[in-house]
Amino acid sequence: MCGLIGYVGDEPAAAVLSGALARLEYRGYDSAGVAILNDGIIILAKDKGKLADVIKACKIDTLVGHVGIGHTRWATHGGVTKENAHPHCDDKNQIAVVHNGIIENCVELRARLSRKYKFISDTDTEVIPHLIREYIDSGLTFERAVFAAARELKGSYAILAVSMLEPEKVVAVRKESPLVIGLGVKSNYIGSDALSFLPYTKNVIFLEDNERAVITKDKVTVYNEDHEELTQKVTQIQWEWKAGTKGNYDYYMLKEIEEQPQVIRQSIMQDNNLINRMAIEILRARQVVFVGCGSSRNAALIGRYAFSKIGHVFSDVILGSEFGYFSESVDKRTLVIALSQSGETADVLDGVKQAKTNGATVFSLVNVAGSSLARMSDKVLCLNGGPEIGVAATKSFMAELCLLYLLAFAMDGTLEKGRGMLRDVSDLVEADLPRHSSRIPGIANRLKEREDFYFLARGINFAMAGEGALKLKEISYVHAEGMPAGELKHGTLALIDNGTPVVVICPTDYTFTDTITNIMEAKARGAHIIGISNSAESVFNDCIMISKVDEVLYPLVTTIPLQLLAYHSALARGLDPDKPRNLAKSVTVK
Ligand code: AGP
Repeated sequence: MCGLIGYVGDEPAAAVLSGALARLEYRGYDSAGVAILNDGIIILAKDKGKLADVIKACKIDTLVGHVGIGHTRWATHGGVTKENAHPHCDDKNQIAVVHNGIIENCVELRARLSRKYKFISDTDTEVIPHLIREYIDSGLTFERAVFAAARELKGSYAILAVSMLEPEKVVAVRKESPLVIGLGVKSNYIGSDALSFLPYTKNVIFLEDNERAVITKDKVTVYNEDHEELTQKVTQIQWEWKAGTKGNYDYYMLKEIEEQPQVIRQSIMQDNNLINRMAIEILRARQVVFVGCGSSRNAALIGRYAFSKIGHVFSDVILGSEFGYFSESVDKRTLVIALSQSGETADVLDGVKQAKTNGATVFSLVNVAGSSLARMSDKVLCLNGGPEIGVAATKSFMAELCLLYLLAFAMDGTLEKGRGMLRDVSDLVEADLPRHSSRIPGIANRLKEREDFYFLARGINFAMAGEGALKLKEISYVHAEGMPAGELKHGTLALIDNGTPVVVICPTDYTFTDTITNIMEAKARGAHIIGISNSAESVFNDCIMISKVDEVLYPLVTTIPLQLLAYHSALARGLDPDKPRNLAKSVTVK
């Protein structure tokens, strides 16, 4: 999941590319680089490391030129080295390429091309500039050579290419990995997402699979794979640029955690007709299947309880990466509900494409309007969460919960009542926030040496246990496991030792008594119990108090404590919560 940006225009390309890469860094931050055209020469500046360090070390801001491409990398093929950083060039340095995706036939292409051209990296991407070179040597123009080279590639790719042979243009090809064109004045942009160039323009064109584009400062041309020019569908992005900045916060993650009371209010403002139409189709479907990954999958697990308890509809949840293995049982009477903040998660897109092939109806809940998932769905609900930059899903998770509750209330015929309940919860979540912000850092600090955490809960809160564990793992690098409280004694209890941190989510709801019983079993083995509850039980060593709400809505008030526990654990361990190692915000590869 890398970040790409291309620019052609009257502004200095270095400044545009650097700023765009900073807004794309959440997509990958192993290494970064730019290729800028100046007086017919390609200037290549790249290195491993964080973007700010690379910009400084390579003096990127001093580079002159008005056409260029840039890249921030999440390594898939080849280690994190300067040679493997993008852009990659042909061996005459006349072509530069950046790429997001995986070239599945890179080995066979490299075997052929390395007989003619010198490779200097061990990435899959480097086959692309050499392939383009081969086509140019065969007599094609630069843009035709790019398109011809793309036809030989197998796998997923978003490619941006520039060349000193035709120095006033950026040529792009898209297959599965996202690309969005930004339409400016005497400037045009193309990036992995609209956030990259949002300060300059909100007028965008989303490239579809197998589409190509040629971008100059005055013109954008889009082609299909038969090189037929397509009419352009211009969309206006609704995001405000400042929403994608840190403001006065040290980290995006804390900003996005604290935005959640407002995000609840924004997310429930949906078109009633659309919500009710979706609810009717859910009620009529023979089977309802949620699909998602990571936090989106955890949200779907909670949606499953809400659909049952409020909407009286049974549903199931299948992990995005597993969904394809159920294709035999997905047919035109199946309703698939896909959840994805980015709308670009390859594991989800693959399954949804298969489901559509089988005739299923697909609804999606996405935060990025115009994303690939949104554009392949029959009906779409936008989370209205605003840009989420922190790699850890926070406000998007909360927004997904809210939309699932809204749908459940609509299925029950109580949409307005339900919307009012959710709005009331947003006020309670807001009221709880200062208490959590003062209480949780101390708990996180006291536990910063611990290396194994267990998150326990029952019923609808069980999925929150999984979400709490995921948050802690991904930004604190601590092993954590979420599991049903009742399951502890069936094996995992053997791992509980003196001081083992056990986080228990146990509001005074229908699960409370049994959960407390389970906690006593862990406490008897020396566990350190962190209780998230609206009752300060003596069995707790630490208690994080939450507001009392309708028992089906407790996930909304337990979300922020779990996120803050992970956030402050990361800080206590000297880690960057926004850019956890090995991860990226949008997992656009399988
Ligand atoms: C959650 O904090 C992680 N960043 C990750 O599990 C994420 O939820 C998952 O990759 C799915 O992303 P999506 O919602 O954009 O599809």
